Amino acid sequence: MKKNKIIIANMKMNGSLSSNEIYLTKIKNNFNNFKNLDIGLCLPYPYLFQAKKFLINTKIRWGSQNVAKFENGPYTGEISAAMLKEFDSKYVIVGHSERSTAYCESDENIADKFEKVKKYKMTPVLCVGETLIEREAGIMERVIASQLDVIVKIYGAGIFENSIVAYEPIWAIGSDMAATPDQANKMCNYIKDFICKEHSCDFKNFNIIYGGSVNPKNAVQLFASESLNGVLIGRSSINFDEFSHICSAAENS
Ligand code: PGA
Repeated sequence: MKKNKIIIANMKMNGSLSSNEIYLTKIKNNFNNFKNLDIGLCLPYPYLFQAKKFLINTKIRWGSQNVAKFENGPYTGEISAAMLKEFDSKYVIVGHSERSTAYCESDENIADKFEKVKKYKMTPVLCVGETLIEREAGIMERVIASQLDVIVKIYGAGIFENSIVAYEPIWAIGSDMAATPDQANKMCNYIKDFICKEHSCDFKNFNIIYGGSVNPKNAVQLFASESLNGVLIGRSSINFDEFSHICSAAENS
């Protein structure tokens, strides 16, 4: 049976109660008929309640862009997995490079966050990717392997069941320089082999998606790649028309 394509919107630090109301109404009215897609909106934390209110009776799910690595306690400003679950969040982005760069997030922190999301039965969207210098040096596979390996070493490869890995080359994020379908394909295949073959895991539900400058122009080609189960979209997800265009391309791919 053909798998549904996964479309995750990383809305980053955008939106307001009033603009979300317009956006979520459009999403609700136009996206609920897509049969072949699993769509998730990862919003800023304060808007989870609003997303739930608008999307509750639709097939579209919501979630966040980060989570605390701790359960609870004296961690000022942090939001726990249990709290996200209370808002019926489904998807949680972990390890986005904008966070690892700005807040010096280590691979070990990311592994603990991944585990917390799994523990509360939500779906982690783990971002991995190399810098341009690392790609030019030809070490992108080694970089990705070391990012994944931290999780495998601490929690075992089996933790990747019911999760999503997003291959997001850092040079492609926010840059208008998306990976070519061939580059994305190769790296997504590499990730799949690393988790499934090298660690002998036969998952029922493990997906690999691509993120980094996905837009209506390159979406069709990206969806043609066999090894990609979907996309993680930043800028083009906050523009309803562009987002809608990408979803239609995925639905018909
Ligand atoms: P972009 O962002 O689509 O704007 O490049 C993607 C991301 O950061 O997840």
